[in-house]
Amino acid sequence: MSDHIPQLTSYDDLSLDAAFATLAAEVQQASELRDAEAQEAFRLHWLGRKQGRLKLISDAWLKSAPVEAKKPLGLRFNQLKEKVEWQLQLSNSNLVPDPIPAPGVDIARATLGGTNQYLADKKRNPYPLDVTLPGAIRTPGIPHPLLKTMQEIVQVFHHLGYSTNLGPQVETDFYNFEALNFPPNHPARDTQDTLQIAHQTGKPSRDRLLMRTHTSPVQIRTMVAQAPPIRIVIPGKVHRNDAADATHSPIFHQVEGLCVDTNITFSDLKGTLDHAMKALFGSDVKTRFFPSFFPFTEPSADVQISCIFCGGKGCRKCKHSGWIELLGCGMVDPHVFAAFTEERRKINPADDTYNPERITGFAFGMGVERIAMIQHGISDIGHFYSGDMRFLEQFA
Ligand code: DAH
Repeated sequence: MSDHIPQLTSYDDLSLDAAFATLAAEVQQASELRDAEAQEAFRLHWLGRKQGRLKLISDAWLKSAPVEAKKPLGLRFNQLKEKVEWQLQLSNSNLVPDPIPAPGVDIARATLGGTNQYLADKKRNPYPLDVTLPGAIRTPGIPHPLLKTMQEIVQVFHHLGYSTNLGPQVETDFYNFEALNFPPNHPARDTQDTLQIAHQTGKPSRDRLLMRTHTSPVQIRTMVAQAPPIRIVIPGKVHRNDAADATHSPIFHQVEGLCVDTNITFSDLKGTLDHAMKALFGSDVKTRFFPSFFPFTEPSADVQISCIFCGGKGCRKCKHSGWIELLGCGMVDPHVFAAFTEERRKINPADDTYNPERITGFAFGMGVERIAMIQHGISDIGHFYSGDMRFLEQFA
């Protein structure tokens, strides 16, 4: 290596190429830097901040060059600098200890045609793959516990041959209430304190928009659109103007079910839900059906399961009754068939697909939060929406 920086006399491309070629050859000569000491000397020689050759070249050639020569000079200077840095990197990788060959294996000979392919590859790729390094740990997301429970419920019904249907969260009064046999001003509407969309009063009442208060409107949407047999589950978000407390949230989730066909009876409903509760909470769980009221089912029932915490003996969780109330259900009210048949007859005036003389069905609806809280023993619904990682990580 020479410390001498020759004087540049002309700046045409050929002269510049020649001057830089000499320097590049100097860099190349130093390619076999065998140890860390030699490398450091090479680095100082070329890249040293005060006396490094690149600094001297920059001072001697670049600074005094005429303006029009600065660009071609700078270009070549940068290429030279890259070459120096590349050389350093290359020799650095040569210092990485070689992998220990298996006994009796000559790495160089074991490679292609006995040539030293292994070392050649290593030179080309200064960062060889080190399979002994620990892998990058990825933390993929997990389904939210509510979503998990919702999927579990849906799965149980998929195994029974149900498929999934979805509907809009912004719904009309017709689908959310009227077609489900809640006439305007009917007191049953009060049980579902509704969030109305603004500026709807100019419309006929059935067309007014609201946030759906339950997933039941999708029953109607499905039956308007398709003929029996129907076996669907409808998971989704619902909204009510409820104050948040430990068991209520203004936004929550439901899974609705609907089965419509010829000869569907209340015992089909009982058998289906008994199976579903056993699938969700364990085969020991018992179910019982209590008379109840929903405008769109007749008869209607509340389903209770034997308390999964005390096995039915009575504890604080089941208020010492041995039973936990879980969902609503019933046989689809013929008034409901009549309401959406009217819609169907707008397309085909003779439509008789859902003649209640031939067609019957059952429906049910359950709150996902309530089921997830029972499954996991969670006492405050707010945990689900808090986004607190300490809570959520327990479900990973
Ligand atoms: N939609 C009812 C609610 O939100 C729940 C329900 C009860 C759904 C009975 C049904 C049913 O399909 O048959 O309170």
